[in-house]
Amino acid sequence: ALAQETVKIGLILPMTGPFASTGRQIEAAAKLYIAEKGATVAGKKVELIVKDDTGTPDVTRRIAQELLVNDKVSFLAGFGLTPLAFAVAPLATQSKTPMIVMAAATSSITEQSPFIVRTSFTLPQVTIGIADWAAKNGVKKAMTLVSDYGPGIDAEKAFKDRLTAAGGEVTGEVRIPLRNPDFAPFLQRVSDAKPDALFVFVPSGVGSQFMKQFVERGLDKSGVRLIATGDVTDDDIVDSMGDVALGTITTHHYSANHNSPENKAFVAAFTKAANVRPNFMAVGGWDGMHLIYEALKKTNGATDGTALVEAMKGMSWTSPRGPISIDAKTRDIVQNVYVRKIEKVDGQLYNVEFSTFEAVPDPVKAGK
Ligand code: DHB
Repeated sequence: ALAQETVKIGLILPMTGPFASTGRQIEAAAKLYIAEKGATVAGKKVELIVKDDTGTPDVTRRIAQELLVNDKVSFLAGFGLTPLAFAVAPLATQSKTPMIVMAAATSSITEQSPFIVRTSFTLPQVTIGIADWAAKNGVKKAMTLVSDYGPGIDAEKAFKDRLTAAGGEVTGEVRIPLRNPDFAPFLQRVSDAKPDALFVFVPSGVGSQFMKQFVERGLDKSGVRLIATGDVTDDDIVDSMGDVALGTITTHHYSANHNSPENKAFVAAFTKAANVRPNFMAVGGWDGMHLIYEALKKTNGATDGTALVEAMKGMSWTSPRGPISIDAKTRDIVQNVYVRKIEKVDGQLYNVEFSTFEAVPDPVKAGK
Protein backbone atom coordinates (compact mmCIF):
# COMPACT_ATOMS: atom_id res chain seq x y z
CA ALA A 1 0.00 0.00 0.00
CA LEU A 2 1.04 3.58 -0.56
CA ALA A 3 2.32 5.35 2.50
CA GLN A 4 -0.29 7.86 3.60
CA GLU A 5 0.82 11.46 3.28
CA THR A 6 1.28 13.30 6.56
CA VAL A 7 0.19 16.84 7.45
CA LYS A 8 2.29 18.26 10.27
CA ILE A 9 1.07 20.81 12.79
CA GLY A 10 3.75 22.62 14.81
CA LEU A 11 2.23 23.49 18.18
CA ILE A 12 4.50 25.96 20.03
CA LEU A 13 3.56 26.56 23.66
CA PRO A 14 4.98 27.64 27.02
CA MET A 15 5.20 24.17 28.64
CA THR A 16 7.59 25.34 31.39
CA GLY A 17 8.00 28.65 33.23
CA PRO A 18 5.34 30.95 34.70
CA PHE A 19 2.85 30.40 31.85
CA ALA A 20 3.10 26.60 31.70
CA SER A 21 -0.59 26.18 32.59
CA THR A 22 -1.45 27.77 29.21
CA GLY A 23 0.70 25.20 27.42
CA ARG A 24 -0.66 22.26 29.40
CA GLN A 25 -4.26 23.25 28.74
CA ILE A 26 -3.80 23.77 25.00
CA GLU A 27 -1.72 20.62 24.50
CA ALA A 28 -4.31 18.50 26.32
CA ALA A 29 -7.15 19.97 24.25
CA ALA A 30 -5.33 19.48 20.92
CA LYS A 31 -4.51 15.87 21.78
CA LEU A 32 -8.10 15.26 22.89
CA TYR A 33 -9.38 16.67 19.58
CA ILE A 34 -7.20 14.24 17.60
CA ALA A 35 -8.15 11.34 19.88
CA GLU A 36 -11.86 12.06 19.39
CA LYS A 37 -11.95 12.94 15.69
CA GLY A 38 -9.20 10.58 14.52
CA ALA A 39 -5.66 11.24 13.28
CA THR A 40 -6.73 11.24 9.63
CA VAL A 41 -8.46 14.09 7.79
CA ALA A 42 -9.19 14.44 4.07
CA GLY A 43 -7.11 11.31 3.42
CA LYS A 44 -4.05 12.66 5.22
CA LYS A 45 -2.45 11.56 8.45
CA VAL A 46 -2.28 14.36 11.05
CA GLU A 47 0.91 14.66 13.08
CA LEU A 48 1.10 17.07 16.01
CA ILE A 49 4.59 18.27 16.97
CA VAL A 50 4.56 19.99 20.39
CA LYS A 51 7.49 22.28 21.32
CA ASP A 52 8.18 24.22 24.52
CA ASP A 53 9.13 27.88 23.99
CA THR A 54 9.24 28.61 27.78
CA GLY A 55 7.29 31.81 27.03
CA THR A 56 10.37 33.53 25.46
CA PRO A 57 9.86 35.26 22.07
CA ASP A 58 13.37 34.50 20.70
CA VAL A 59 12.83 30.83 21.46
CA THR A 60 9.38 30.83 19.84
CA ARG A 61 10.85 32.33 16.66
CA ARG A 62 13.76 29.85 16.55
CA ILE A 63 11.42 26.88 17.06
CA ALA A 64 9.01 28.15 14.38
CA GLN A 65 11.93 28.46 11.94
CA GLU A 66 13.06 24.89 12.69
CA LEU A 67 9.53 23.53 12.34
CA LEU A 68 9.19 25.21 8.94
CA VAL A 69 12.61 24.29 7.55
CA ASN A 70 13.33 20.88 9.11
CA ASP A 71 9.90 19.41 9.79
CA LYS A 72 8.09 21.14 6.91
CA VAL A 73 4.98 21.77 8.99
CA SER A 74 1.84 22.95 7.16
CA PHE A 75 0.53 24.87 10.19
CA LEU A 76 2.06 26.86 13.03
CA ALA A 77 -0.19 26.96 16.10
CA GLY A 78 -0.27 27.82 19.81
CA PHE A 79 1.17 31.23 20.87
CA GLY A 80 0.59 31.47 24.61
CA LEU A 81 1.43 35.16 24.97
CA THR A 82 1.21 38.21 22.71
CA PRO A 83 5.00 38.78 22.28
CA LEU A 84 5.36 35.15 21.14
CA ALA A 85 2.77 35.66 18.39
CA PHE A 86 4.43 38.90 17.28
CA ALA A 87 7.81 37.14 17.06
CA VAL A 88 6.52 34.53 14.58
CA ALA A 89 4.16 36.61 12.39
CA PRO A 90 6.88 37.62 9.85
CA LEU A 91 7.83 33.94 9.39
CA ALA A 92 4.19 33.02 8.68
CA THR A 93 4.07 35.73 6.02
CA GLN A 94 7.40 34.79 4.38
CA SER A 95 6.62 31.07 4.30
CA LYS A 96 2.87 31.53 3.54
CA THR A 97 2.00 29.22 6.44
CA PRO A 98 -1.31 29.44 8.33
CA MET A 99 -0.60 30.59 11.89
CA ILE A 100 -3.38 29.67 14.31
CA VAL A 101 -3.36 31.86 17.43
CA MET A 102 -5.01 29.76 20.15
CA ALA A 103 -4.19 31.92 23.21
CA ALA A 104 -2.70 35.37 22.68
CA ALA A 105 -5.33 38.12 22.74
CA THR A 106 -3.98 41.59 21.89
CA SER A 107 -6.30 43.04 19.25
CA SER A 108 -3.55 43.92 16.73
CA ILE A 109 -2.07 40.40 16.47
CA THR A 110 -4.18 39.42 13.45
CA GLU A 111 -2.89 42.52 11.63
CA GLN A 112 0.73 41.26 11.83
CA SER A 113 0.27 38.73 9.00
CA PRO A 114 -2.45 37.81 6.47
CA PHE A 115 -1.74 34.17 7.44
CA ILE A 116 -2.87 34.62 11.06
CA VAL A 117 -6.28 33.28 12.08
CA ARG A 118 -7.37 33.50 15.74
CA THR A 119 -9.45 31.08 17.83
CA SER A 120 -8.83 32.70 21.24
CA PHE A 121 -10.35 36.16 21.80
CA THR A 122 -9.36 39.81 22.02
CA LEU A 123 -9.19 41.83 25.22
CA PRO A 124 -11.38 44.67 23.88
CA GLN A 125 -13.96 42.05 22.84
CA VAL A 126 -14.31 40.68 26.37
CA THR A 127 -13.77 43.99 28.23
CA ILE A 128 -16.52 46.23 26.85
CA GLY A 129 -19.15 43.95 28.41
CA ILE A 130 -17.86 44.38 31.95
CA ALA A 131 -17.72 48.18 31.46
CA ASP A 132 -21.36 48.11 30.31
CA TRP A 133 -22.32 45.91 33.25
CA ALA A 134 -20.52 48.25 35.67
CA ALA A 135 -22.18 51.38 34.27
CA LYS A 136 -25.61 49.74 34.60
CA ASN A 137 -24.91 48.59 38.14
CA GLY A 138 -24.04 51.84 39.84
CA VAL A 139 -20.29 52.07 39.17
CA LYS A 140 -19.53 55.78 38.65
CA LYS A 141 -15.86 55.87 39.68
CA ALA A 142 -13.51 53.00 38.91
CA MET A 143 -9.77 52.38 39.10
CA THR A 144 -7.94 50.01 36.75
CA LEU A 145 -5.05 47.58 37.25
CA VAL A 146 -3.61 45.74 34.23
CA SER A 147 -0.49 43.81 33.25
CA ASP A 148 1.89 46.14 31.42
CA TYR A 149 1.88 44.70 27.88
CA GLY A 150 -0.38 44.38 24.84
CA PRO A 151 -3.51 42.73 26.27
CA GLY A 152 -3.41 44.82 29.45
CA ILE A 153 -3.10 48.07 27.51
CA ASP A 154 -5.99 46.95 25.26
CA ALA A 155 -8.13 46.13 28.31
CA GLU A 156 -7.31 49.41 30.08
CA LYS A 157 -8.32 51.47 27.03
CA ALA A 158 -11.47 49.48 26.22
CA PHE A 159 -12.68 49.71 29.82
CA LYS A 160 -11.97 53.43 30.17
CA ASP A 161 -13.48 54.41 26.79
CA ARG A 162 -16.63 52.39 27.42
CA LEU A 163 -17.20 53.46 31.04
CA THR A 164 -16.54 57.10 30.16
CA ALA A 165 -19.00 56.93 27.23
CA ALA A 166 -21.61 55.65 29.70
CA GLY A 167 -21.03 58.64 32.02
CA GLY A 168 -18.59 56.97 34.44
CA GLU A 169 -15.02 57.92 35.25
CA VAL A 170 -11.66 56.17 35.70
CA THR A 171 -10.03 57.89 38.68
CA GLY A 172 -6.75 55.99 38.80
CA GLU A 173 -4.90 53.48 36.66
CA VAL A 174 -1.77 51.39 36.95
CA ARG A 175 0.18 48.97 34.76
CA ILE A 176 2.01 46.22 36.67
CA PRO A 177 5.02 44.32 35.20
CA LEU A 178 4.10 40.99 33.59
CA ARG A 179 6.90 39.12 35.36
CA ASN A 180 7.07 39.02 39.18
CA PRO A 181 4.12 41.37 39.70
CA ASP A 182 3.64 43.19 43.01
CA PHE A 183 0.13 44.52 43.35
CA ALA A 184 0.37 45.76 46.95
CA PRO A 185 1.36 49.43 46.49
CA PHE A 186 -1.49 50.14 44.06
CA LEU A 187 -3.95 48.13 46.13
CA GLN A 188 -3.11 50.42 49.05
CA ARG A 189 -4.02 53.41 46.85
CA VAL A 190 -7.29 51.73 45.90
CA SER A 191 -8.02 51.05 49.56
CA ASP A 192 -7.44 54.75 50.39
CA ALA A 193 -9.42 56.12 47.41
CA LYS A 194 -12.37 53.73 47.76
CA PRO A 195 -13.70 53.86 44.17
CA ASP A 196 -16.97 52.04 43.41
CA ALA A 197 -15.02 49.34 41.58
CA LEU A 198 -11.56 48.07 40.70
CA PHE A 199 -11.25 46.65 37.18
CA VAL A 200 -8.44 44.10 36.68
CA PHE A 201 -6.75 42.26 33.82
CA VAL A 202 -3.89 39.86 34.45
CA PRO A 203 -3.10 36.91 32.15
CA SER A 204 -4.14 33.32 32.77
CA GLY A 205 -2.59 31.86 35.93
CA VAL A 206 -1.66 35.17 37.59
CA GLY A 207 -5.13 35.77 39.10
CA SER A 208 -4.36 33.72 42.24
CA GLN A 209 -1.47 36.02 43.23
CA PHE A 210 -3.66 39.04 42.61
CA MET A 211 -6.57 37.69 44.66
CA LYS A 212 -4.25 36.81 47.54
CA GLN A 213 -2.93 40.40 47.75
CA PHE A 214 -6.44 41.84 47.28
CA VAL A 215 -7.56 39.92 50.38
CA GLU A 216 -4.36 40.66 52.36
CA ARG A 217 -5.10 44.40 51.93
CA GLY A 218 -8.62 43.82 53.26
CA LEU A 219 -10.11 44.97 49.95
CA ASP A 220 -12.61 42.11 49.93
CA LYS A 221 -14.29 43.82 52.92
CA SER A 222 -13.81 47.44 51.78
CA GLY A 223 -16.91 47.86 49.64
CA VAL A 224 -14.76 48.29 46.49
CA ARG A 225 -16.31 45.92 43.93
CA LEU A 226 -13.85 43.67 42.14
CA ILE A 227 -14.64 43.38 38.43
CA ALA A 228 -12.41 41.77 35.82
CA THR A 229 -12.07 39.89 32.58
CA GLY A 230 -12.34 36.13 32.99
CA ASP A 231 -8.57 35.79 32.63
CA VAL A 232 -8.34 36.70 36.33
CA THR A 233 -10.80 33.99 37.44
CA ASP A 234 -9.59 31.36 35.00
CA ASP A 235 -11.09 27.87 35.48
CA ASP A 236 -7.63 26.43 36.14
CA ILE A 237 -7.31 28.46 39.37
CA VAL A 238 -10.73 29.81 40.38
CA ASP A 239 -11.61 27.00 42.77
CA SER A 240 -8.33 27.45 44.67
CA MET A 241 -9.06 31.17 45.28
CA GLY A 242 -11.40 30.26 48.11
CA ASP A 243 -14.67 31.81 49.21
CA VAL A 244 -13.23 35.36 49.18
CA ALA A 245 -13.70 35.20 45.40
CA LEU A 246 -17.46 34.53 45.69
CA GLY A 247 -19.56 37.17 43.96
CA THR A 248 -16.77 38.52 41.71
CA ILE A 249 -18.27 39.62 38.37
CA THR A 250 -16.34 39.04 35.18
CA THR A 251 -16.98 38.93 31.43
CA HIS A 252 -15.41 36.32 29.16
CA HIS A 253 -16.06 33.94 26.30
CA TYR A 254 -15.70 30.64 28.16
CA SER A 255 -16.61 29.03 31.45
CA ALA A 256 -16.26 25.32 32.20
CA ASN A 257 -19.73 25.77 33.70
CA HIS A 258 -21.25 26.85 30.32
CA ASN A 259 -24.53 25.05 29.97
CA SER A 260 -24.65 23.29 26.58
CA PRO A 261 -24.46 19.66 25.44
CA GLU A 262 -21.25 20.42 23.51
CA ASN A 263 -19.59 21.84 26.61
CA LYS A 264 -20.76 19.08 28.93
CA ALA A 265 -19.21 16.50 26.59
CA PHE A 266 -16.01 18.58 26.26
CA VAL A 267 -15.59 19.10 30.01
CA ALA A 268 -16.21 15.42 30.77
CA ALA A 269 -13.72 14.18 28.16
CA PHE A 270 -11.09 16.82 28.98
CA THR A 271 -11.29 16.25 32.73
CA LYS A 272 -10.95 12.51 32.21
CA ALA A 273 -7.90 12.95 29.96
CA ALA A 274 -6.12 15.80 31.77
CA ASN A 275 -7.30 15.50 35.39
CA VAL A 276 -8.08 19.24 35.54
CA ARG A 277 -10.97 21.38 34.37
CA PRO A 278 -10.55 22.90 30.90
CA ASN A 279 -10.09 26.67 30.92
CA PHE A 280 -10.44 29.24 28.12
CA MET A 281 -6.99 28.29 26.81
CA ALA A 282 -8.14 24.70 26.30
CA VAL A 283 -11.18 25.81 24.31
CA GLY A 284 -8.94 28.04 22.14
CA GLY A 285 -6.78 24.97 21.41
CA TRP A 286 -9.77 22.73 20.72
CA ASP A 287 -11.30 25.21 18.28
CA GLY A 288 -7.93 25.84 16.64
CA MET A 289 -7.69 22.12 15.84
CA HIS A 290 -11.26 22.18 14.54
CA LEU A 291 -10.36 25.09 12.25
CA ILE A 292 -7.36 23.14 10.89
CA TYR A 293 -9.39 19.95 10.31
CA GLU A 294 -12.28 21.74 8.61
CA ALA A 295 -9.95 23.80 6.40
CA LEU A 296 -8.18 20.60 5.26
CA LYS A 297 -11.57 19.06 4.45
CA LYS A 298 -12.42 22.10 2.31
CA THR A 299 -9.14 21.92 0.38
CA ASN A 300 -9.45 18.11 0.02
CA GLY A 301 -6.22 17.73 1.93
CA ALA A 302 -4.23 20.28 -0.10
CA THR A 303 -1.76 22.17 2.10
CA ASP A 304 -1.27 25.37 0.11
CA GLY A 305 -1.23 28.04 2.84
CA THR A 306 -3.18 30.66 0.91
CA ALA A 307 -5.93 28.15 0.06
CA LEU A 308 -6.12 26.99 3.69
CA VAL A 309 -6.50 30.54 5.03
CA GLU A 310 -9.17 31.26 2.38
CA ALA A 311 -11.00 28.11 3.53
CA MET A 312 -10.92 29.35 7.13
CA LYS A 313 -12.42 32.77 6.36
CA GLY A 314 -16.09 32.95 7.27
CA MET A 315 -16.17 29.48 8.82
CA SER A 316 -18.67 29.05 11.67
CA TRP A 317 -19.37 26.25 14.12
CA THR A 318 -20.64 25.40 17.58
CA SER A 319 -17.77 25.41 20.06
CA PRO A 320 -17.96 24.23 23.67
CA ARG A 321 -18.09 27.99 24.44
CA GLY A 322 -21.16 28.55 22.18
CA PRO A 323 -21.57 29.65 18.54
CA ILE A 324 -18.40 31.12 16.97
CA SER A 325 -17.21 32.25 13.53
CA ILE A 326 -14.10 33.57 11.81
CA ASP A 327 -14.65 37.07 10.40
CA ALA A 328 -13.72 36.79 6.70
CA LYS A 329 -12.25 40.28 6.62
CA THR A 330 -10.22 40.36 9.85
CA ARG A 331 -9.53 36.60 10.36
CA ASP A 332 -10.44 37.23 13.99
CA ILE A 333 -13.01 35.35 16.04
CA VAL A 334 -16.61 36.51 16.56
CA GLN A 335 -18.20 35.00 19.66
CA ASN A 336 -20.61 35.39 22.56
CA VAL A 337 -19.32 37.17 25.64
CA TYR A 338 -20.95 36.15 28.90
CA VAL A 339 -21.38 38.05 32.16
CA ARG A 340 -20.56 35.68 35.03
CA LYS A 341 -20.55 35.61 38.81
CA ILE A 342 -18.38 33.33 40.94
CA GLU A 343 -20.66 30.90 42.74
CA LYS A 344 -20.35 27.54 44.40
CA VAL A 345 -21.61 24.64 42.29
CA ASP A 346 -21.47 21.15 43.85
CA GLY A 347 -18.94 22.43 46.38
CA GLN A 348 -16.57 24.04 43.84
CA LEU A 349 -16.17 27.63 42.66
CA TYR A 350 -17.23 28.34 39.09
CA ASN A 351 -17.84 31.34 36.86
CA VAL A 352 -21.61 31.01 36.46
CA GLU A 353 -22.91 32.77 33.34
CA PHE A 354 -26.03 34.89 33.81
CA SER A 355 -26.29 37.07 30.73
CA THR A 356 -24.96 37.11 27.17
CA PHE A 357 -23.72 39.62 24.61
CA GLU A 358 -24.22 37.73 21.34
CA ALA A 359 -21.79 37.45 18.40
CA VAL A 360 -19.33 40.12 19.56
CA PRO A 361 -16.57 41.02 17.02
CA ASP A 362 -13.27 42.60 18.06
CA PRO A 363 -14.57 46.13 18.62
CA VAL A 364 -11.25 47.74 17.68
CA LYS A 365 -11.34 46.30 14.15
CA ALA A 366 -15.12 46.72 13.84
CA GLY A 367 -14.53 50.46 14.33
CA LYS A 368 -11.91 50.72 11.53
C1 DHB B 1 -2.57 36.89 26.84
C2 DHB B 1 -2.18 35.85 27.68
C3 DHB B 1 -3.07 35.35 28.61
O1 DHB B 1 -2.72 34.35 29.43
C4 DHB B 1 -4.35 35.89 28.72
O2 DHB B 1 -5.18 35.39 29.65
C5 DHB B 1 -4.73 36.92 27.89
C6 DHB B 1 -3.84 37.42 26.95
C7 DHB B 1 -1.62 37.45 25.86
O3 DHB B 1 -0.41 37.46 26.14
O4 DHB B 1 -2.06 37.88 24.78
